[in-house]
Amino acid sequence: MIAGMRRLIVGLTGASGIVYGVRFIERLSDLKEVEIHLVMTDAARITLSQELGMSQSELATKVAVMHNLRNIAASIASGSFVTAGMVVVPCSMNTLAAIAYCQSNSLLTRAADVCLKERRPLILLPRETPLHLGHLRAMVAAAEMGAIILPPVPAFYFGPKSIDDLIDHTIGKIFDQLGFGHSLFQRWGEADGSEERRDKPSRG
Ligand SMILES: Cc1cc2nc3c(=O)[nH]c(=O)nc-3n(C[C@H](O)[C@H](O)[C@H](O)COP(=O)(O)O)c2cc1C
Repeated sequence: MIAGMRRLIVGLTGASGIVYGVRFIERLSDLKEVEIHLVMTDAARITLSQELGMSQSELATKVAVMHNLRNIAASIASGSFVTAGMVVVPCSMNTLAAIAYCQSNSLLTRAADVCLKERRPLILLPRETPLHLGHLRAMVAAAEMGAIILPPVPAFYFGPKSIDDLIDHTIGKIFDQLGFGHSLFQRWGEADGSEERRDKPSRG
């Protein structure tokens, strides 16, 4: 690892919305201080192709390390390999359930389990609708173990003009959880000319 860089694990699964995962990786790359370790499921490869027309090898060019899902001996499978945590984006109900019930039989779910046991941030972006009780219970179980449940739910208070704006809003919410600075969306109360600011002296 280059001095000053932080390692972050990114997991992509076969839920719809693989664009969130790809955009997250692109925005992380912009920071130039994060060493990205990517692991993706077989179903993620399908959605990557179907939803974005992109291949796994294209995505591999954007990350430091592309891990093999079946390599259970990879660095990220061990707690002794220090990382800043893991983001699973998007997170299928299948993977959510595997993480929630400690089924570590792939590198992705093992890496997530390691983050939980080492008390490192694990951020899950589950995508499904509607949700049945099993989905909801799995989210509660994961949250009880310390995972952050961050569904890709769009906000409209910042005046999005495009789908890109909505995606960046969710990416910004992930960055906020990780403590990474960004200007991916306009924060409430920080807009120019807001009612709140009109009462305050100009900052110049
Ligand atoms: C185009 C497409 C969209 C899908 N969307 C979702 C989804 O939004 N949420 C979900 O949980 N599964 C979705 N699935 C089903 C998952 O891909 C499937 O359950 C798969 O087994 C998940 O495997 P993984 O957790 O190993 O990625 C979708 C499948 C396809 C092909």
